[in-house]
Amino acid sequence: MNRQEAQREHARLVQLLQGYDKAYYADGAPLVTDSTYDTLRRQLEELEARYPHIQPWQSVGVTPSDAFGKRRHHEAMLSLDNALHEKAMHEFLSRVRRYLGLSPDTPVVLRSEPKLDGLSLNLCYQHRQLLWAATRGNGQVGEDVTANAQHIDGIATTLPADAPEFLEVRGEVYMRHDDFATLNRQQADKGGRIFANPRNAAAGSLRQLDASITAARPLHFMAYQMVVVTDEGAGGAVHETHHEAVAALQRWGFATDETARLCHDWQHIQDAYNTYADARSHIPWDIDGVVYKVDSFAYQQRLGAVGRAPRWAIAWKFPAQQGVSTIEDIQIQVGRRGTLTPVAHLKPIGIGGVMVRRATLHNADEIKRLDICVNDDVIVQRAGDVIPQIIKKQKDGKQRKPFVFPKRCPVCGSPVHRKPDEVAYVCQGGLSCSAQAMGWLRHVVSRTAFDIVGLGNKHIETLMQQNILKEPADVFTLHTHRQKLEDLEGWGSLSVDNLLKAIEARKTMTLDRFIYALGIPQIGEANARLLAVTYRDLPTWLQAMAQAKDTNSDAWHDLLAIDGIGDSVANDTVSFVATYRTLIDNLSAVMQVRPYAQSKADSSSPLQGKRIVFTGTLQHMTRDEAKKRALELGALVSSSVSTKTDYVVVGDNAGSKAKKAQDYGVVVLDEQAWLQIAEANTPPAHPHPPPTNAPSARTD
Ligand code: IVH
Repeated sequence: MNRQEAQREHARLVQLLQGYDKAYYADGAPLVTDSTYDTLRRQLEELEARYPHIQPWQSVGVTPSDAFGKRRHHEAMLSLDNALHEKAMHEFLSRVRRYLGLSPDTPVVLRSEPKLDGLSLNLCYQHRQLLWAATRGNGQVGEDVTANAQHIDGIATTLPADAPEFLEVRGEVYMRHDDFATLNRQQADKGGRIFANPRNAAAGSLRQLDASITAARPLHFMAYQMVVVTDEGAGGAVHETHHEAVAALQRWGFATDETARLCHDWQHIQDAYNTYADARSHIPWDIDGVVYKVDSFAYQQRLGAVGRAPRWAIAWKFPAQQGVSTIEDIQIQVGRRGTLTPVAHLKPIGIGGVMVRRATLHNADEIKRLDICVNDDVIVQRAGDVIPQIIKKQKDGKQRKPFVFPKRCPVCGSPVHRKPDEVAYVCQGGLSCSAQAMGWLRHVVSRTAFDIVGLGNKHIETLMQQNILKEPADVFTLHTHRQKLEDLEGWGSLSVDNLLKAIEARKTMTLDRFIYALGIPQIGEANARLLAVTYRDLPTWLQAMAQAKDTNSDAWHDLLAIDGIGDSVANDTVSFVATYRTLIDNLSAVMQVRPYAQSKADSSSPLQGKRIVFTGTLQHMTRDEAKKRALELGALVSSSVSTKTDYVVVGDNAGSKAKKAQDYGVVVLDEQAWLQIAEANTPPAHPHPPPTNAPSARTD
């Protein structure tokens, strides 16, 4: 290759990579696999090394989108060099030593951390308050996502007094596998965008112009880097090592990884890699390698960066969790709400030590988008426990058999419909469809709903076939079928005793849990709680939902006035109750649904049963914290002011709601008055145990 050809080849590679970067960072929809990208990148770097006249490509990420405001990072957000094998790791260590002028046997302490596969976020703090949050963008300038970041678990919004005056904290925003699967199911149900993997789901969820969408998505943040811009007023908080800095971030309220270790020699480095590689399939979120960072900040400073990556860190990547297989068949699965999901049956293929036989295709549109037929070769990706995904078609099959989406439910034969603006086809058989009845029963007894230990899917299926279980209420009359239970395969009198005890223990439950257990579309635990707090007891709630069928009724407007319940959630709830009213009544006849838990603080609270609206910016707590506090104090938090509103709490820059409150003669509280109420009353006991921390991988 002569100089000119090299220049042309370089330009071609840069153009390709720029296109792939845009798809990856800006659109959240990668066009090529990570390993293809890495290969191209290496080709580019080899060219740059061989032909010094070529201006090296320094781009990181892409130009931030115009839809968001922009923020300039105080220090560039760099990327990491990759090592794909041991040799590259040894080279990294030699480079570090050579650069620092250390002999080959001088120890250099590295810190090993999991490489989280999400998207990076930069948080800027001034006077210990979150000032703004920005995506990486092109490394210099990112997109302002402050409103969205405030809702993400693991991000501290206010820092304690020993934190520096001015600080940037960097970390990864990611989504857990189980949350990703649930989100995609919900998206498929309502015809929204299907995400190819948890990273795209996290990116798509963070980069929302409407922050309330981000708030509703299960995002987490883990901090992995501290950049102290000035240590003015920082007390003793200037750190000498990266691991001390991360420990400080943890003290200041950030989520950080607790599995990271210091590596003093090659053995430690290798052990860390092997431990994470082994733990990978059990970790509930995606990691795609191990990051090793020189621990000493003094060394980091001296090493600096070259091009897009620091010399003091490297990512030792895991081999891809992808493989190519052939689609042997496409079959339809019917879910608990009747949604028909096509599932690809694959020629078995081992990916990352697990045999993959099936992959979800989500819906009819997804099959069209991927343009796949039976017998095609496809790229399959596995991530943790999530059902494997088909990323794209690799090659047309020799005998392509197009899949024809059925017009009738393959389980019960009822017609299938899709609503005009949705992509999912739904079986119209309701609970007369055994797949739907089975799905519903499974949900009702599941851990987060009635939590009936001992009633597995197989048993539910058998009991349904024997006509003992037909609807949720039947669970509570299982004791009348004792003999039949004992005759079930693998069951003896002891296991039946245990099951009946477990059922007995669930005979009483509070309204919030009951509503959640019903499995109403869009009613997760948080929305169930909102409904329970608002309506307090089952008869009141059921009556209100029945009246709310009339969208001119007060009941409908009251439902919509609950802060957090929009049109679509309200619609789903009202129509679910109307459709399944008999089954809900049957259920409540065999169990006791207790009114929503009221504690002492609740009943003595001045906000008990009062309707409250928050507007404007509060100085001492976020609006979300204030709403939560008000709910705990027994108030009904509404989103709009009406004649029924009791209090409007007005923060800074309040708009029309404050004015409306005056027009309606509603009591207006300023932040001071609100704080007095909020602080004078101790919070009531939580009706559910607080969520336990996500399990994390251990390296030892
Ligand atoms: S350090 C200059 N630490 O990987 C330091 N990055 O490929 C760069 N990432 O943009 C970041 N886990 O989004 C660092 N423990 C970790 C990480 C991590 C994941 C991501 C991050 C970064 C990308 C670089």
